[in-house]
Amino acid sequence: MNKLLVSLLLLLGIPGAARAADVIVGDPAAGQAKAVVCGACHGPDGNSMAPGFPKLAGQGQRYLLKQLHEIKDGKRTVLEMTGMLNPLNDQDLADIAAYFSGQKGSAGAADANLVARGEALFRGGKLDQGMPACTGCHSPNGAGIAAAGFPRLGGQHADYVKKQLTAFREGDRTNDGDTMVMRTIASKLSNKDIDALAAYIQGLH
Ligand code: HEC
Ligand code: HEC
Repeated sequence: MNKLLVSLLLLLGIPGAARAADVIVGDPAAGQAKAVVCGACHGPDGNSMAPGFPKLAGQGQRYLLKQLHEIKDGKRTVLEMTGMLNPLNDQDLADIAAYFSGQKGSAGAADANLVARGEALFRGGKLDQGMPACTGCHSPNGAGIAAAGFPRLGGQHADYVKKQLTAFREGDRTNDGDTMVMRTIASKLSNKDIDALAAYIQGLH
């Protein structure tokens, strides 16, 4: 692990292994059966076809589980999923996260007109404005850092990524923790930056 990453982890207060003991272990086979209803929107294997429905396949288990708890508790609003997670207990959510995390994420294609600007931002950030590169946390190939809960972005639908970056910037998505890491980063992005990043990310693998 490089120095920058270690300091980022400390900055975010990621408790890492310290919390591992109280994490419920998910069973992917049980999760597959419990995830049937989710497949209608997210795709049976988590590779959704609709650009507004995020792909879940290959997403880090820790990140998925965090989102599921926060959607269930109303800390993150997903209107399309209203009430859907209420009948599911902690074990069910862990099983579902394990199932989708174990599926292979499909690739997407990038809009050629936007890719250069997107790549420059993704890999270089905006250093003059103190905005770090995305690669530090989401990794150069967009795979994320599963153990730290930094989500995979590579291959994700551009429409969905655009919506999330805009939501972080406007304060409509606030579940990025007390350090407000994504809200702070997104506050430096223009609409054109967001379009370019979303296009680049969709084609990244
Ligand atoms: C009717 C469609 C629909 C169904 C059914 C549905 N979802 Fe979703 N889900 C969505 C949408 C739309 C979003 C993204 C909302 C947004 O733009 O923030 C989402 C977001 C998510 C996310 C966050 C993904 C990320 O990358 O942050 C997870 C995890 C998730 N859903 C899991 C599930 C699970 C598990 C089920 C089944 C129990 C399920 N969903 C059923 C529409 C659906
Ligand atoms: C310091 C670490 C860090 C950096 C740098 C960073 N991110 Fe993030 N990002 C995160 C974390 C942590 C989350 C998950 C927040 C949560 O738990 O909901 C996240 C979430 C996201 C999401 C939502 C994913 C989803 O499936 O809903 C997108 C999109 C995203 N980041 C894009 C970017 C882009 C683009 C950049 C560069 C401009 C960037 N991030 C830089 C840490 C970072």
